[in-house]
Amino acid sequence: MRLVPYYTLGDHQGPLLDCPMPLDLSDLLDGGPWEVELGYGKGKFLLQQALAHPERRFLGVEVVSKYQKLLSKRAQRWGASNLMNIRGEALYLLSSVLPRRFADRLHVYFPDPWPKARHHRRRLFDPETVDLVLGVLKPGAELCFATDFLDYGELVMEMLDGFPGLTVEPVLEPWPDGARTNYEAKYMEEGRPIIRCVARLSERADQQALHPAGARGIAAAWHRREES
Ligand SMILES: C[S@@+](CC[C@H](N)C(=O)[O-])C[C@H]1O[C@@H](n2cnc3c(N)ncnc32)[C@H](O)[C@@H]1O
Repeated sequence: MRLVPYYTLGDHQGPLLDCPMPLDLSDLLDGGPWEVELGYGKGKFLLQQALAHPERRFLGVEVVSKYQKLLSKRAQRWGASNLMNIRGEALYLLSSVLPRRFADRLHVYFPDPWPKARHHRRRLFDPETVDLVLGVLKPGAELCFATDFLDYGELVMEMLDGFPGLTVEPVLEPWPDGARTNYEAKYMEEGRPIIRCVARLSERADQQALHPAGARGIAAAWHRREES
């Protein structure tokens, strides 16, 4: 199977393409490590990184189709053949479509904070989803995270701190390369405090290790797979 790098794969209603699940990424773009960004918005960071690092492969996931089309157009215009861009709901794709443990780096910047308690379960990082999200990381790989929503950021840091085999380093200054995304640039200009961190998974991370609170998310993912 060979797919063009920019396509709509699926959403919470199910896959739109007839492709193996979980998707075998090995063939899709030329070789090199994978970096993944979830909820890339206008995709500025992802495109910049893809152009700056042709030896690496980049996978973006975004639920809003107008953003996916925007990034696809820009990536084609700039000839970024190392960037794959999927429209879909991140948790659905992580649970039912994407392989586990393939990414060398995961980027999550300014994910929707869903501040109302009854919406917390929609968060990308929640006790029930943390295993799914971190499940894309290879041993030794890292997560880069930022948010301006401080309550959520503190919860995420706490959750990451308790994750088996993960070492969390708060990043107290802006990234050395400056604002990475549109939201970050805007919030820095406004002077809003931002929580940033880099979390690295140990090379010896146990394949079976689950965050104590994440087991339900994994169970739900497997249940969905069995149903599909
Ligand atoms: C607040 S914006 C941040 C955009 C970008 N990361 C930035 O920092 O400029 C959150 C983005 O995540 C996307 N998003 C939210 N929930 C998502 C989900 N479950 N799956 C995929 N994308 C999602 C939204 O459509 C939006 O583009």
